Amino acid sequence: MNTLTNKKVLLGITGSIAAYKSADLVRRLREQGAEVRVVMTAAATEFITPLTLQALSGQRVHSLILDAEAEAAMGHIELARWAEVVLVAPATADFLAKLAYGHANDLLSTLCITTTAPITVAPAMNQQMWQAPVTQENCQRLQERGIKIFGPAMGSQACGEIGAGRMLEPLELVQCLEGLFKKGSLVNHQILITAGPTREDIDPVRFITNRSSGRMGYAIASAAYAAGAQVTLVNGPVSLSPPLGVQISPVYNAQEMLEAVMTHIPTTDIFIAAAAVADYRPVQQATQKLKKKEAVMQLTLERTPDILATVANLPNPPFTVGFAAETNNLIDYARSKLQRKKLDMIAANQVGIEGVGFDSEENALHVFWTEGSVELSRCSKKEIANKLVDLIIQRYQLKKRLSS
Ligand code: PMT
Repeated sequence: MNTLTNKKVLLGITGSIAAYKSADLVRRLREQGAEVRVVMTAAATEFITPLTLQALSGQRVHSLILDAEAEAAMGHIELARWAEVVLVAPATADFLAKLAYGHANDLLSTLCITTTAPITVAPAMNQQMWQAPVTQENCQRLQERGIKIFGPAMGSQACGEIGAGRMLEPLELVQCLEGLFKKGSLVNHQILITAGPTREDIDPVRFITNRSSGRMGYAIASAAYAAGAQVTLVNGPVSLSPPLGVQISPVYNAQEMLEAVMTHIPTTDIFIAAAAVADYRPVQQATQKLKKKEAVMQLTLERTPDILATVANLPNPPFTVGFAAETNNLIDYARSKLQRKKLDMIAANQVGIEGVGFDSEENALHVFWTEGSVELSRCSKKEIANKLVDLIIQRYQLKKRLSS
């Protein structure tokens, strides 16, 4: 039996060109044995006809709130009660704003504030609209209320631009919904992960950074999601596709990473710092490109905020896992970071070796906690992330048992 067999999925469709994918989504959900009922906004019906969705779902499609005939059969309250999960796909920027502020001026938004079923949304919009601070604030509000955000994906958009804002593909959304019904040790847990490098500007065209690709942090995010967690990934500039089901918060420099992390910390159960944050930044950033005048040039640098130490030293920190990237004295340096930064665990990797660590497909880790350690031998970052997440779950659960 599939995870979605007999699950009652209320699919909301709003007015985006990505609505054409919703037809395939209905088909994919039904293939998995789900019962699907479709609610469309008026704008959605401009992109795809209710008849198409009726044919695919085998059910009447609802779109009007003041529909005497529908209210006599399965009215909006019954639909809200019927649903075991609501998925709004595509969800426009306008609909996210409506949902964030509890508007109820059409059938879909009314259902969303009436239902007790979990609500999930798959945003689809132009990349600038997705990045707009107001859209990000609305998403933050939605997440704080437990609404899950699936995607969006990176890529080329219908408007001709390239960036994050594409609706996830139907099969990816099916997997995201399966994740909701899956049992896992991290269900109902919020995991926050940092990944990738940061960039510290010298002038408008030059910056200080490092070789981190973000792969290690992304693999951990996928492993935590597969274990049932709600995962937020704060990453510096990387060129990777967002992992399935994970909320991405892109940042540029260490200060932005700190701010993004601190916004999520109050609701975080486990914090994993896999990012290679630049340790220093220029004291001053030139507003114009620096000219090459002297034979030797000096840059004055200052320390960036230590994000990991800031989190670990909070009065009520989450379970905190750091990384240590070392070219030498791996064990001594890792143990000393574990103690000095007051961490629950640290995953140390030897860097500067071909094929592991920075910007590679594989890694090897030596993981330490106060009372012990374990070596995870060289394998793909995906495999090692699964092993690391298993280890984190064990230590986290033990700490919880001991403190209760
Ligand atoms: O991204 P990949 O290409 O996949 O490579 C993976 C990786 C090598 C980057 C990763 O496995 C790794 O080791 N990440 C940590 C790199 C690092 O910056 O290590 P560090 O020893 O300098 O820092 C120690 C810890 O403090 C890290 O958890 C780091 O995220 C954190 N830190 C460091 C500085 C700072 N200002 N703030 C921090 O939070």
